[in-house]
Amino acid sequence: MPGSNLRFLEKAQGLPADEVFLDLEDAVAPLAKEEARRNIVTALREGDWTGKTRVVRVNDLTTQWTYRDVIEIVEGAGDRLDCLMLPKVQDPTEVVWLDTLLTQIEKTMGFEVGRIGIEAQIENARGLVNVDSIAGSSRRLETLVFGPADFMASINMRTLVVGEQPPGYEEGDAYHYILMRLLMAARMHDLQVIDGPYLQIRDVDGYRRVARRAAALGFDGKWVLHPSQIEAANEVFSPSQEDYDHAELILEAYEHYTTVEKRGAVMLGDEMIDEASRKMALVVAAKGRAAGLSRTTRFEP
Ligand code: GLV
Ligand code: MG
Repeated sequence: MPGSNLRFLEKAQGLPADEVFLDLEDAVAPLAKEEARRNIVTALREGDWTGKTRVVRVNDLTTQWTYRDVIEIVEGAGDRLDCLMLPKVQDPTEVVWLDTLLTQIEKTMGFEVGRIGIEAQIENARGLVNVDSIAGSSRRLETLVFGPADFMASINMRTLVVGEQPPGYEEGDAYHYILMRLLMAARMHDLQVIDGPYLQIRDVDGYRRVARRAAALGFDGKWVLHPSQIEAANEVFSPSQEDYDHAELILEAYEHYTTVEKRGAVMLGDEMIDEASRKMALVVAAKGRAAGLSRTTRFEP
C-alpha cells in the first residue's frame, strides 16, 4: 500500500492478507515521500493491524531517503512494526547497515534489540549473484523477496508484462533459474522466500498461473497488489484438501508403524513411505494447518 494514500492505508487493515507492507519506495512519488512517512507512522500507531505482519518498505540505499525513512518510521512506530523491507539489495553490507541502524534506534528508544526483522528484495543481477551472502548477512533477515519488475528491467528482459514469459522465448520458463536461485539461498539460511507482484490486476487467472509456478517450486507466498488477487493467493499457496489429508495420513501412519511396529519403510495403501516421505508430509501438513484446513480422514491401522 502506497504510504501516500490515506484511503488505502485505512482499507488495507480489513483485508484477509497475512502481511501488509506500507510503501515508501516505488509506489510513492519523490515529492510525497516525507508526507508518506508521517502517514505511515500514524497508520501504524492508530490502525488496527490485528493478525497481520506489519512491514514498511523503505527506499533503497542508492537514494538519499533511506536513513530518514528508517529513523522516522522506527522512532515513530518501531513498537508497532514487525519488519522493514529493504529494496534492490545488491550486497550483504546493505543489510548489515540496516541491522546496525536498527540496533541504534532500538537502544535509543528502549525497544527490545533485534525484534524488528528485515526482508530483502532481490531485484537485479548483482543482488541475485550475491544472494547467498545476502541471505546470511544478518540474524534479523527473515525473508527474501523477488522483485520481478525491477529485475526484468535491470537485465533487459524483453517484455513489459511482469511475470509472464517474454515473447520469443518458447523453450522453457524464463524465471526458473531466478526463482530457484532465490529458493536455494533462502532455504540454506532458513528464510522465507516470497514472489513479487503481478501487475495485470484484472487478470486473476494470469495471477493464479504465475503464482502456481512459484508455489510449486516451494515459495512461501506472493505479493498481492489489489484485493482481487488475495483469494487467488491464499488458494494457490494452501495445499488442496486432498493433499492435506494425505499428508496428515502419512504422518500418522508413519508414527504408528515406526513406534508401535518398529518398522522404517512401510506401505500406506499402494504407496511406500519412509522417513523422507514423513519430511515431505510435514511441509504440506504445516501449510495446511497454517491455512486453517481441518482433516476429513483418519488413519486406521
Ligand atoms: C517489486 O518491487 C518489483 O520490482 O517487482
Ligand atoms: Mg521493485
